[in-house]
Amino acid sequence: MQLIKSASELKSLLSEARRGGKSVGFLPTMGALHEGHLTLARRAVSENDISVVSVFVNPTQFNNKVDLETYPRNVAEDARKLSEVGVNFVFAPVVEEFYSKDELNNRFQFDFGGLDQVMEGKFRPGHFNGVVQVVSKLFSIVEPTKAYFGEKDFQQLAIIRRMVKVMNFNIEIVGCPIVRQVDGLALSSRNALLSDDQRQLATNIHAVLSESVQFVGQTSVQELHNSTIAAINRHDGLEVEYYDIVDGLTLKSIGRWDDSDYIVGCITVYCGKVRLIDNIRLK
Ligand code: PAJ
Repeated sequence: MQLIKSASELKSLLSEARRGGKSVGFLPTMGALHEGHLTLARRAVSENDISVVSVFVNPTQFNNKVDLETYPRNVAEDARKLSEVGVNFVFAPVVEEFYSKDELNNRFQFDFGGLDQVMEGKFRPGHFNGVVQVVSKLFSIVEPTKAYFGEKDFQQLAIIRRMVKVMNFNIEIVGCPIVRQVDGLALSSRNALLSDDQRQLATNIHAVLSESVQFVGQTSVQELHNSTIAAINRHDGLEVEYYDIVDGLTLKSIGRWDDSDYIVGCITVYCGKVRLIDNIRLK
């Protein structure tokens, strides 16, 4: 495994490999790696000749300064984990070299076709502009054959799929299922911020969502929406920020179960001060 900080160095190493006809698998991350990330990394390793993981806490996707400053950083530990998994290159650039002043200070413009107006986009304005900015820049450096994204960040995955189409990247986007603890809690870097009691409490999110699946088609969308929120909020210490039942491709809210063949329930819940996101396929 090679740890690389310079974009031009990585570019030349990869172009050498590509000339030899090798496929390149790429996983972008912000580090603080857990088993969820590592599952995706293993997949990138097993499905490609060469694998690259970026570890970069992207400042332009944070709309909260404190959140950016307190985001856990430990590149050495991340690199060790990725080396164990068999990743070939870890790309960990420094902010000042990765971005120009202009890129850092001006919001990146992209036509989201409305995908940024709902859910996370509504609550974190500008967040997805930063995500598209960093991922498109990383794609131009790495030029991967396949790139891996988790379904945990469901809206991010939908936006990246659109980005690849709009910007004409010749890259296969691989959506990967959510990796969970045995008790159902979706793995997240933020779980480290939960106390033992809160961790236990947070398992109710997935429990309620999975139980709700049996009522799809039995009760109205609105009723299921309301009862899901009520069932989670019933637990002291959990508070739903939003729950949206949407078409899995357009992310538009649906009114009736036969409005779409692919329906996903996307939720954000505060467990104390910690913001957790999760989702479930309903149809
Ligand atoms: P980060 O939160 O580090 O996540 C990196 C990738 O790992 C994302 O595609 C995310 O969906 C996936 N992931 C995280 N936890 C997961 C879990 N429990 N199961 C499955 N996949 C999981 O998402 C980002 O970073 C950034 O926005 C990034 C795309 C790197 C751009 O900066």
